[in-house]
Amino acid sequence: MHFFNYKGNELYAEDIPVRMLAEKYGTPLYIYSYKTLLRHFRAYDDAFKNYPHIICYALKANTNEAILRLLSKNGCGADIVSGGELFRALRAGISPNRIVYAGVGKTEDEIRFALGSKILMFNVESEDELREIDRIAGIMKLKAPIALRINPDIDPMTHPYISTGMKKHKFGIPIEDAIENYRFASMLKHIEVMGIHKHIGSQITEISPFVDAMKRILMLLDELTGLGFNIRCLDIGGGLGIPYFDEKPPMPRDLARKLLPLINGRRITLIMEPGRSIVGNAGILVTRMLYLKKGVGKDFIIVDAGMNDLMRPSLYDAYHHIMPVVKNRRAKITADIVGPICESGDFLAKGRRIQKVNKGEYLSVMSAGAYGMSMSSNYNSRPTVAEVMVNGKTHSLIRKRGKYNDLVKDEMLPAYLR
Ligand code: LLP
Repeated sequence: MHFFNYKGNELYAEDIPVRMLAEKYGTPLYIYSYKTLLRHFRAYDDAFKNYPHIICYALKANTNEAILRLLSKNGCGADIVSGGELFRALRAGISPNRIVYAGVGKTEDEIRFALGSKILMFNVESEDELREIDRIAGIMKLKAPIALRINPDIDPMTHPYISTGMKKHKFGIPIEDAIENYRFASMLKHIEVMGIHKHIGSQITEISPFVDAMKRILMLLDELTGLGFNIRCLDIGGGLGIPYFDEKPPMPRDLARKLLPLINGRRITLIMEPGRSIVGNAGILVTRMLYLKKGVGKDFIIVDAGMNDLMRPSLYDAYHHIMPVVKNRRAKITADIVGPICESGDFLAKGRRIQKVNKGEYLSVMSAGAYGMSMSSNYNSRPTVAEVMVNGKTHSLIRKRGKYNDLVKDEMLPAYLR
């Protein structure tokens, strides 16, 4: 459910015509809906309201400060994977005791930063990392709160690049080695074992992988409790999918209905790390048609947004709906919708049936709020695009469009080239 709908022939972001925003701020332009973001966060918070829980928004999906502030003001925590994300989470006012830190390659500086910030816990991905966190916590004379990221070997039935919880993946500790690793962790002087973490993948559209993974993790939890471990937090990761095409993913309330009865009776705080399902459908990317090019056997609609602005189609062959910002009655054509980047992989859609667009008209790439801006780059020296947040009838620029000078401001010349 989102607030990008047609009123008559015009696409609106909440109560504002998208065309008006495109004209005012220029394109390419990311537009986010405040009400959609809030609604999605609340859908999680409400679904689990009768059970101790923390929703830790996965920053990697979108890190704009306005989005983080909105979430933080409503009691949301953060799932981070780098020092940079920790910096952003703290800056947006997210309370450190609602921050969890995953990732297979935490550096010494990042571990120090997180320890010093007193985050809720590290989601540790290997024995080697445990040793390193213990060593650094020792130097800082602290105890590091940790969960082990356990790999439950469940196939989430999603795109292979965003599947993470199987034996073949680099993530987490295999479930059969879990007890041994917990024992090891409990012997380390500067480690405090407090949780279990799992995350099996992203854009999961069935409920069964969540249920199967939960069952395996709960067996482990009971075994650990039996061995005298005090496991207080169960972090079940993110991964709930969104509709890009015609998928019908489960809702947070469906997850709650299936998962809470399984947890029944155990005294733990449940942590979830949704990213895409909070911000994905809360954002669109608006682009302007530049040229229609008649190719051999097919047409190309060339637009001003490229793979550097939205990488998902090029990287995963991901599908995004592309809608005219103003509908017309022209006949439909079939075309590849491509950007200006000098790569054949630079496309937003392939072989798409779409109403004919004319030069200067706008198209909206839907469901672009997650892993859109956060994965963008300046490739081909294209300045970073602007971002706008709409709330009802108001709109605010939440990131200025980059300038040419921004592209070079951090570059330096060796003396012999000056
Ligand atoms: N927690 C952990 C440990 C993760 O690795 C991820 C995502 C999440 C939570 C959030 O998952 P979500 O709720 O967003 O599914 N760039 C890809 C997605 C990569 C996801 C990486 N990990 C895409 O554009 O589809």
